Amino acid sequence: MTTSATQTGDGVAANPLRKGLAVNRIADPCNVVFFGASGDLMKRMLLPAMWNLRLGDILPANYGIVGFSRSEFTDDAFRALMKESVDQFSRTGPAKEPLWSDFAKHVSYVSGDFDDVNCFHKLREALEKNDRELGTGGNRLFYLSTPPSVFTSIIDQLDKAGLGPRDDKTGWSRIIIEKPFGTDLDSARALQAEVSKVFEEKHVYRIDHYLGKEPVQDIMALRFANVIFEPIWNRRYIDSVQITAAETVGVERRGGYYDNAGALRDMIQNHVMNLLALVAMEPPVAADADSIRDEKFKVLRAIRPIDRTRVTLDTARGQYDEGAIAGKPVPGYRQEPDVRPDSNTETYAAVKILIDNWRWADVPFYLRSGKRLAHKTSEIAIRFKSLPHRLFGEAGDALDNNVLVMKIQPEEGISLRFNAKVPGPRMHIRSVSMDFNYGTGFGVVSAPAYERLIGDAMRGDATLFTRWDAVETAWEIVMPVLDRWLDTPDESFPNYSAGGQGPPSADRLLAMDGREWRRI
Ligand code: BG6
Repeated sequence: MTTSATQTGDGVAANPLRKGLAVNRIADPCNVVFFGASGDLMKRMLLPAMWNLRLGDILPANYGIVGFSRSEFTDDAFRALMKESVDQFSRTGPAKEPLWSDFAKHVSYVSGDFDDVNCFHKLREALEKNDRELGTGGNRLFYLSTPPSVFTSIIDQLDKAGLGPRDDKTGWSRIIIEKPFGTDLDSARALQAEVSKVFEEKHVYRIDHYLGKEPVQDIMALRFANVIFEPIWNRRYIDSVQITAAETVGVERRGGYYDNAGALRDMIQNHVMNLLALVAMEPPVAADADSIRDEKFKVLRAIRPIDRTRVTLDTARGQYDEGAIAGKPVPGYRQEPDVRPDSNTETYAAVKILIDNWRWADVPFYLRSGKRLAHKTSEIAIRFKSLPHRLFGEAGDALDNNVLVMKIQPEEGISLRFNAKVPGPRMHIRSVSMDFNYGTGFGVVSAPAYERLIGDAMRGDATLFTRWDAVETAWEIVMPVLDRWLDTPDESFPNYSAGGQGPPSADRLLAMDGREWRRI
């Protein structure tokens, strides 16, 4: 049974916007098993997230954390490694005693091969021991943070070792699957076929960490907890929508993975499509996971297929050359480690999407994502239509369109651009901005996405996880573009400088529609 607590944390009473909030929802007693526990994601994100869930009183009193991977560790050696990772990567700074020693008692480790059923029997024994000693109640959350190539064998072995899904009086088992869920439509379907042999959809939590970001969750609140936006949230008032996920980093140490992926697979098919679905979906009939995910799926289904001709007209791709980020010289993509020197992989992708339904007919959604761009910025910008009739403004005054921007990162907030009279005797008009920032508004720093998502999976709330039908549809949307880009290498690569705004072809894409990208 899920319990909820109403204790308030530090600073809550001081901020009137947070007064009276029930802050923490505590999950059932359970074990969380991390496959790939010696990997980078575990060190940088997952274990620090568990520690901060503990600090935030979101973990239940009875919990176990079990690492599983091929590397050999004793429980103590694994705990020491995890302490280093918390000290280095936790948003709350180095681990403090005596809390760490108490937390460490809940952490253990099983080493083994992902295709050896005996190792999964060992895992089962470790979980049963935790049930007895830590009171974890037979509940199990398995987190696959391994390379996707071993997802299927882990699921098979879980099943064979009797660790498959359950939801009865002996407890529950759920599985979190990291991205990428497949590398194309066929491989995603093949993976889903394997997953669904063992786990029903209600037990599967496909992670898209963008959905755990606070401002992304606020898209629904903005739309459906206010009366003023929804009446104008349609083709009568909206001119176009731009969704941007721009990064300054290059491929870092992930050249081997990225060179077989590219920006369309890595960012657009999942993160950016999820943003699009939240902005464009119809109001759900209720706030539960499936009602929301039904609407996200429906709007993705209404996206007009991008046929081969449209790939040429309505998409743009780029690859970064050397350049400078924050004044420091950086190498070009083809010079990065583990990248082919003649690589044709795109590090920038832009796509124009049209949604064939009553709300959005003829409103273009321009999506773009790229690495080594001028700034790290993720945002959704809704541009409203021009005034039907100009009444005010002296000659030379530009009456800009209204723009509502949902800022996802690094700044988290909402800003509305509108026109105002310049003080003085003349009727001069200038465009001004009204800004709301979550941090200063609510007086809190948002928790990293993984904290929210792991906590939700422990509580059995799948709202912020992607359902299979949406994953499949998102692959269907991008496949023609991926296929065409694979068949036709872009001879202009590299075609944008690191630290810039992206390739000229992306500007042409919007110029053809008489529009411009917002500056990154
Ligand atoms: C990941 C991609 O899913 O998201 C990375 O694989 C990318 O290539 C990252 O850098 C971006 O996430 P964030 O939260 O930094 O915007």
